[in-house]
Amino acid sequence: MSDATIEGGVRQPLRHDSGHKHVSGAAAYIDDLPEPQGLLHVALGLSTVAHGRICRLDLAPVRAAEGVVLVLTAADVPGVNDISPTHRHDEPILAEETVEYVGQPIFAVAARTRDQARRAARLAEIDYDALPAVLSFAEARAGGEMVTEPMTLARGDAAAALKTAPRRLQGRMAVGGQEHFYLESQIAMALPGEDDEVRVLSSTQHPTEIQTMVAGALGVPANAVTVEVRRMGGAFGGKETQGNLFAVVAALVAKKTGRAAKIRPDRDDDFAVTGKRHDFEIDYDVGFDGEGRILALDMTYAARCGWSADLSGPVTDRTLFHADNCYYFPDVRLTSQPLKTNTCSHTAFRGFGGPQGMIGGERVIEEIAFALGKDPLEIRKLNLYGPGGRDVTPYHQQVEDNIAPEIIEKLEADSGYQARRDALRAFNETSPVIKRGIALTPVKFGISFTLTAYNQAGALVHIYRDGSIHLNHGGTEMGQGLYTKVAQVVAEAFQVDIDRVRITATSTGKVPNTSATAASSGSDINGMAALNACNAIKARLVDFAIENWGVPEDQIEFLPGCLRVGNQKIAFAEVVNAAYLARVSLSSTGFYKTPKIHWDRAAGRGRPFYYFSYGAAVSEVAVDTLTGEYRVERVDILHDVGESLNPAIDLGQIEGGFVQGMGWLTTEELWWDDAGRLRTHAPSTYKIPACGDRPPVFNVELLKDSPNREETIFRSKAVGEPPLMLAISVLHALSDAIAAVGDYRLCPRLDAPATPERVLMTIERLRKEVLASAEAAS
Ligand code: MTE
Ligand code: MOS
Repeated sequence: MSDATIEGGVRQPLRHDSGHKHVSGAAAYIDDLPEPQGLLHVALGLSTVAHGRICRLDLAPVRAAEGVVLVLTAADVPGVNDISPTHRHDEPILAEETVEYVGQPIFAVAARTRDQARRAARLAEIDYDALPAVLSFAEARAGGEMVTEPMTLARGDAAAALKTAPRRLQGRMAVGGQEHFYLESQIAMALPGEDDEVRVLSSTQHPTEIQTMVAGALGVPANAVTVEVRRMGGAFGGKETQGNLFAVVAALVAKKTGRAAKIRPDRDDDFAVTGKRHDFEIDYDVGFDGEGRILALDMTYAARCGWSADLSGPVTDRTLFHADNCYYFPDVRLTSQPLKTNTCSHTAFRGFGGPQGMIGGERVIEEIAFALGKDPLEIRKLNLYGPGGRDVTPYHQQVEDNIAPEIIEKLEADSGYQARRDALRAFNETSPVIKRGIALTPVKFGISFTLTAYNQAGALVHIYRDGSIHLNHGGTEMGQGLYTKVAQVVAEAFQVDIDRVRITATSTGKVPNTSATAASSGSDINGMAALNACNAIKARLVDFAIENWGVPEDQIEFLPGCLRVGNQKIAFAEVVNAAYLARVSLSSTGFYKTPKIHWDRAAGRGRPFYYFSYGAAVSEVAVDTLTGEYRVERVDILHDVGESLNPAIDLGQIEGGFVQGMGWLTTEELWWDDAGRLRTHAPSTYKIPACGDRPPVFNVELLKDSPNREETIFRSKAVGEPPLMLAISVLHALSDAIAAVGDYRLCPRLDAPATPERVLMTIERLRKEVLASAEAAS
């Protein structure tokens, strides 16, 4: 009747439910679905100037092209021509009079084949009156236009404390952006329904937002629009808002023509049209004591946001929330500058601005270390959050779960950091060209949406008469394993094998008003919502059992595969069917909202995060100082996921996050020319890590016996984004290697991405500075 344990409960290292289908090609993405009869294919006509007024738009040649069925402009939008995710309404679906970046959609063309649509899109005749384009940080600062309200976090009096600090230094760091490079590009397919109805299949992290945008553009109520997402082929934040355009255009075409419509931009267009990780210039002014303790810090984080607000507000807020990383700043002032520029509108990307915040804080640590001639790790440890009033963040949240010190200590020992560091230094003394470097950097990442309302989730669970279970929740699957984890929660709740649980596509028709699957909170909130749905059904089954079999409640128990009722064990399916016959509802919704959190942005105070996730990494690199080329030779990671829901998936998230972060900081370079054209717009010129870039020694360990002190789903912790920031250790290891060139006396001030060119230029600059200081001394 029942096994001792169930197959696929929580804590088991199950494979991703679709893993085998991803690799065999059986996992269906939108472009793999059978195409409806009469399907139209849509392509976009894009701006070729960075800023200009459209003075002539002749679409007659597009209309006349072979296979073309419909051409759409802003004037054809029946509802509101806006897909801004904010209340600023600054993002037209299709441009009206002006264009604000190269790649901005001006019109859409629907044709019988995708090839016809793409060819036709090129035939438009468009003239522009050029307007001044703001591209560089210098231009953006000079103009001073922001896409959204900046934020300041402050505690104490940073300016006064800077003046009295025994040591003080200033600097600026540049940090590049990042293209999401999801393997499945943006895509949507819309199927017109009766009356005002439309069904939209979208590759999106945020089905409810797609529903809202489609309804707004069509001028219909939300209940006319159903959005479905079975899975995305990667998203990484790039499908939190960036799918809006494609879904809305497909829906417009579908409703205008009465035919199904699909839009899938090719990779170059996807690069040109959609936003990326923000690049930053970070100014810091730090005061510290002779030991390296930070006393005062003033930092300004300027971001190039692109032409519209999109998520730049919350992204640059999260930057400030993570400037402290694991460190206590006594007197501190942090300011964001979300600058408007004439490029694509930058957006969410794994870490959501947090990585850029943290990397600024880590640069400050490194500067202090070089100023005092100490190991940066020593300065890190000295400044960690700790007891005695040193546990309050710049946003006045107390750090209650600080495990950074123990993680660092364990990793330092387990990875042999000190001995290896000594060995590398000895090696460098005798190696004129190849220099090796090592660095240990920690991560503390705040979990929760800083927009408090987003911290809610819903789920829907049905049990059928045969005992099989249908699971639905508001979270979306982008490869991170959310569906698997939530199915494990349901299997655990009912004590059934996971193969009884059918995971079904996310749909706005099943669970309404959902939040984006983002901020790493997918399993935290959807897991809890699903558990609450299961508990509601379980309570009904228990009541039924009490009545039906006449046993008291404490004699009823869900055991693997069955219900214990007194001293009999009744198979799960049998209980369920008996309950059905007794007219017991076997379906329930579940709801969850994250407790304890609140945030007052204007005051810069509150508890925006329910808890923190922690980790640390040691990276070791070898740099060829003649060419700037390098290799990451070894990486050791110790990461905290609380009590893991699924250790196999969590390990995958840590490895993948780290490698993606390494790409951001090393080879991935976005380069716009003086005309505002992105010249790194395809895999030919934009280099994400390849399998050969994986560190040959890559030790990843989950921190043991570390349940979340908060009551999260089975005491697990979020894992999606934090590991990306472990890769900051790679940048610092490169810096350590480069510093050998200057005998470790000068801080290399290595900016990101540390492409081989930038590494070489940094080495050359350091060599000159060494010479200059030697001359000055003689
Ligand atoms: N992992 C894979 N394989 N693909 C992705 O697109 N996105 C990341 C992370 N891990 C992503 C991923 C981002 S940006 C976030 S916010 C989380 O997954 C979202 O999912 P979760 O909240 O369920 O962790
Ligand atoms: Mo992740 S950047 O929060 O989608």
